[in-house]
Amino acid sequence: MNLKKNIWQKDKIGGLELNNRIVRSATNEHLGSLEGHVTDDYIKVYENLAKSGIGLIITSHMAIDANQRAECTHICANDIENEKKFKQLTDTVHRYGSKIIAQISYPGHHGSKMQVVKTPSGLGQTEALSQEDIKEYIKKHIETIKHLKKVGFDGVQLHMAHGFLLSEFLYPFYNKRTDCYGGAVNNRYRIIHELLDEANKIKDSNFVLISKIDSVSKSEESEFLNQQIEICKWQERDGIDAIEVSGANFKKYNQTTPYFLENAVKIKDNVNIPIILVGGFRNTQQMEDALSKGIDFISMSRPFIADENFVQKLKNGERSICTNCNKCFEIFKTEYKCCSLRKDKIKQYEINFNENILKAN
Ligand SMILES: Cc1cc2nc3c(=O)[nH]c(=O)nc-3n(C[C@H](O)[C@H](O)[C@H](O)COP(=O)(O)O)c2cc1C
Repeated sequence: MNLKKNIWQKDKIGGLELNNRIVRSATNEHLGSLEGHVTDDYIKVYENLAKSGIGLIITSHMAIDANQRAECTHICANDIENEKKFKQLTDTVHRYGSKIIAQISYPGHHGSKMQVVKTPSGLGQTEALSQEDIKEYIKKHIETIKHLKKVGFDGVQLHMAHGFLLSEFLYPFYNKRTDCYGGAVNNRYRIIHELLDEANKIKDSNFVLISKIDSVSKSEESEFLNQQIEICKWQERDGIDAIEVSGANFKKYNQTTPYFLENAVKIKDNVNIPIILVGGFRNTQQMEDALSKGIDFISMSRPFIADENFVQKLKNGERSICTNCNKCFEIFKTEYKCCSLRKDKIKQYEINFNENILKAN
């Protein structure tokens, strides 16, 4: 029997069958309106990705609380006004045979300066979450997940990476709490455990729960990976269906090789759920190598910013045109296009370019 994994093979996350192993990693296109609403331009990006034959799309991160948004274009996942547009979005993606999972986040230190920023320990200009706030936070998550299921998403990804709130709870650097949510690692994990305990009640075979985690910390402490391996085991026990492995040391983003592969393989060796690996994939050879080492799904962001039709190019053996210039991190916010290599322009809301709003983010 040939057990070799193939990029174009169907595989499952929980009960959810994906047409292939290619995933669009969560990418904030800054195409939400100032009110946090889904726009037609946003849906167009997802239609193009689905049309290209991608297995799974993870959305831009979306807010669970209108008062805790990361920036002025952060879409509010539980805003009732978005219901119709979300249905249009999920129907569109499903029409082409792709699946779509919504990434939800609570910004923590990434919070917009236009609001009171709530964090685990209230460092800097922020306010510490009380235990009541944590209960409210879990409740809001659960309401949001129910809403996202109702409007046709195939699951939810909990953002536990890149310095967003759940990752801040896991880092001793940000989590200085002395109550049951701080201190030892099992206490720092408690908020995730409590959230998953409730979220599991919403899950079914066609609606999955996945997470995105850091495998490296910002300051690259050697012990961090061992902590994250334990946390991945606990997440599996707590019902997470797949884990996307990323990292918080953004300088790695200049590399055009899968820089978290070694860590992701170590995590894979310790869990029995699919591992989605993101970061640096640009050609099929790198993808096949990762699959041969045990990785289950290949996730990418910038190659799809450069070309929403990249899956078709990949099928023809072409590599991504992305050069890791990293201008996409900025021009999404400041110009009427999303990649310095693209000739076409995505029309964004003029309000995004209002200097005052940009300064406030
Ligand atoms: C413009 C831009 C926006 C991003 N937005 C998100 C996001 O909303 N949520 C998230 O988890 N990661 C986000 N990322 C990180 C990507 O998902 C991915 O982890 C990272 O870009 C590395 O993958 P790549 O080498 O394929 O680009 C973003 C990346 C870029 C370039």
